[in-house]
Amino acid sequence: MNASSGKSVVILGATSGVARSVARRFGALGYTVGLAGRDREELEILAADVRARCAVACAILPFDATAFETHADFLDQCAQVLGELPGGVVLCFGYMADQALAQKDFEVARRTIDTNLTGAISILERFAAAYEARGNGFIAALTSVAGDRGRKMNYIYGAAKAGLTAYLQGLRNRLHASGVRVTTIKPGFMDTPMTYGMSLPGPLVASPEAAAKAMVDKITRGKDSVYVPFFWRYIMWIIKSIPERQFKKMSV
Ligand SMILES: NC(=O)c1ccc[n+]([C@@H]2O[C@H](COP(=O)([O-])OP(=O)(O)OC[C@H]3O[C@@H](n4cnc5c(N)ncnc54)[C@H](OP(=O)(O)O)[C@@H]3O)[C@@H](O)[C@H]2O)c1
Repeated sequence: MNASSGKSVVILGATSGVARSVARRFGALGYTVGLAGRDREELEILAADVRARCAVACAILPFDATAFETHADFLDQCAQVLGELPGGVVLCFGYMADQALAQKDFEVARRTIDTNLTGAISILERFAAAYEARGNGFIAALTSVAGDRGRKMNYIYGAAKAGLTAYLQGLRNRLHASGVRVTTIKPGFMDTPMTYGMSLPGPLVASPEAAAKAMVDKITRGKDSVYVPFFWRYIMWIIKSIPERQFKKMSV
């Protein structure tokens, strides 16, 4: 396996509202950045922005989380365009459909699971194997507070994110001895296209820039599992403490 300078990162789902800021933060820290996603035009614009702002190399890569058969070649493509297998990977893609629609239409439910969970496992297992063999690297992924407790508002998306959280926990346990760091990031509400038009409690909604700053800080410090912003740890502690006999009657 190739050696790595350690100062390179690939961002999966790089056109997401928060991933754009994550890319800029890594660029500002001097990382070579790979931007992976489906929208080539948007990726080109973002890559030009990262290069101009941060004076670092930034390349784009085609990536579709649900095109599982393409994932086997993805790491080679990363190594080709970045000059090395990247030092780390940050998974930012996600898909949240309207819950009522996902209840009615199994294709929507399946897309939710396929994108957020199956796609994540498919691509992260490739990175895990490569980093384990190399003996270093970092893997970070954005799950959600929605995975901490199932709620009627979004339990299909929440189930996928809960699966991803458990997957990352096991992956961290597996890779610990090999020196590969795995960081679970549980964001609360963020002001991005995913939440556009939703009625959310303003003070609890983080800007993508502030959320990305906290995320990159935790990833580069090798944290295991973090809430972003930090206060969601307390909110979720309260929500998880509510007895099920009460919780099932509530609309939170
Ligand atoms: N926003 C929130 O309040 C919030 C809260 C908790 C957790 N999260 C999680 O945080 C992450 C980032 O959220 P965000 O709000 O920044 O998201 P966003 O702006 O809605 O962007 C979602 C991203 O996922 C990509 N994506 C969707 N399906 C894909 C696929 N099959 N293959 C590749 N890329 C795909 C989209 O790419 P296209 O542009 O090609 O569609 C887009 O770049 C997500 O995992 C989300 O679930 C968000």
